[in-house]
Amino acid sequence: MATFPIIDMGKLNGEERAATMEMINEACENWGFFELVNHGIGTELLDRVEKLTKEHYKKCMQERFKEMVASKGLEGVESEIKDLDWESSFFLRHLPESNMGEIPDLEQEYREVMKEFGGQLEKLAEQLLDLVCENLGLEKGYLKKAFHGSKGPTFGTKVSNYPPCPRPDLIKGLRAHTDAGGLILLFQDGNVAGLQLLKDGQWLSVPPLRHSIVINLGDQLEVISNGRYKSVLHRVVAQTDGARMSIASFYNPGSDAVIYPAPAVIDKDEDRDLYPKFVFQDYMNLYAALKFQPKEPRFQAFKNNLGPIATA
Ligand SMILES: [Fe+2]
Repeated sequence: MATFPIIDMGKLNGEERAATMEMINEACENWGFFELVNHGIGTELLDRVEKLTKEHYKKCMQERFKEMVASKGLEGVESEIKDLDWESSFFLRHLPESNMGEIPDLEQEYREVMKEFGGQLEKLAEQLLDLVCENLGLEKGYLKKAFHGSKGPTFGTKVSNYPPCPRPDLIKGLRAHTDAGGLILLFQDGNVAGLQLLKDGQWLSVPPLRHSIVINLGDQLEVISNGRYKSVLHRVVAQTDGARMSIASFYNPGSDAVIYPAPAVIDKDEDRDLYPKFVFQDYMNLYAALKFQPKEPRFQAFKNNLGPIATA
């Protein structure tokens, strides 16, 4: 079986550039996921993010999670739970405007580190979008422009912890879904596994790799690439021992960006109607209710004009 793609971004500057670009292309076509090393975000910053996130969880989130578990009687669960996740999380928005000032319990140092981390991830996301453009034969900047809308992209970070779970077979850390947005950059625990993706009908683990950034593609890149790249189902299986940290940042279109397949990627007439055209926020509204369901009916709703509006 093919092994999970690990891309060394350092090689993009040398004689192995073409081979590395091809690895990225193959990963986008066949996995929807890849793991980046030498991505340019310093290990010292990553270590601080990890340390402060774990401290914040212990100090501010752990007790709240235990109370939720107790109030729902989840400790002694004996049948499958399908309507909630074994997850403790909060969301930081960076763009179009930061919500960092509104989040309670964030210490100044943590706030500053997450701001710095968010800024570096934003640059990495934009660099990757241009690599994707190059692989798809789109002009440089095409995806950034497609995501721009009137106020620029939406960019935010979901900070999650998956505490030890007594019955991972009955409650998922995070139920299977594809991501709605554009490009997702994940800094995950270097020691505790848990993220799995569905490939050829089998759930495969995304291996923890210290200081790496895991990338996956959301539904919008599937639409813009006209299905050449696919958003892939993934889930989190919590562990019975050991908590797992997961910091996922979502580089998404602006709410009023109009999303549709890039004309340059359509080479056959019969491929013209594979995917719909829609306003990104309308897609998100639909996704909010249907996140844990297959993506195809979401696309179909817009193709049938059942989505909120048909765009000009
Ligand atoms: Fe996800």
